Amino acid sequence: MIDLHCHVLANIDDGAKSVDEALSLMALAQEQGVTRMVATPHIHLGIYDNDINSISAAYKALSQALVSSNIAIELRAAAEVRISPEIVLFVEQHKLPFIGHYQQKDVLLLELPSSHIPAGTDRLISWLLSKNVLPMIAHPERNRELQNHPHRIKPFVQSGCLLQLTAASLLGDFGDAPKQLSEHFLEQRLYTIIASDCHSLKRRPPKIAQAKQLVSSLVDEEYAFALTTDMPRTISNSLFQ
Ligand SMILES: [Fe+2]
Repeated sequence: MIDLHCHVLANIDDGAKSVDEALSLMALAQEQGVTRMVATPHIHLGIYDNDINSISAAYKALSQALVSSNIAIELRAAAEVRISPEIVLFVEQHKLPFIGHYQQKDVLLLELPSSHIPAGTDRLISWLLSKNVLPMIAHPERNRELQNHPHRIKPFVQSGCLLQLTAASLLGDFGDAPKQLSEHFLEQRLYTIIASDCHSLKRRPPKIAQAKQLVSSLVDEEYAFALTTDMPRTISNSLFQ
């Protein structure tokens, strides 16, 4: 399986607190059957002011530690980018890392706030698409406006956005509302991939294998394979050439 959303780079956001913890998270992912990961630290203005430089430094530190470990997971780095007007500037200055390439576009892992869908989101998405950037919406099932009005996902889907399900949402770790909404979106086959969004061993460990099993029983095995292996591999292939 392939994980395109995880916070394993150490000390640059609310994810792994040390390289040792990152290695333990990756060892757990390996036990689950993960063979490829794209680390996606937060880029969230004023909260996690990461950029390509801070991300590459943390990526190098973890890559070096991986060499002397017994973990056989291929690792690359990108980011989970919180929606903001500044994204326009960042894209124009080529400052945002992508989690891959799909349908001739660079794929940007885009995070909405958990409370609502900000005004202007539709215009930003149209603008990104016009610049050949394809947004993948991170865990839409965790957004409260979508929990209360699930049909508001439609404009995202109709514009071509990809959707990422967080394994722990489906497993009920964030409560009933995200679980129910993720089941609802799964039944309509709206998701493109499942990712762990893992942060730490205690608080949010990787659980893709359990989610894959649940999707197999809720929908079918083919969709579970597409979400955890086929689609994330296709999307991230450009990073692993
Ligand atoms: Fe995340």
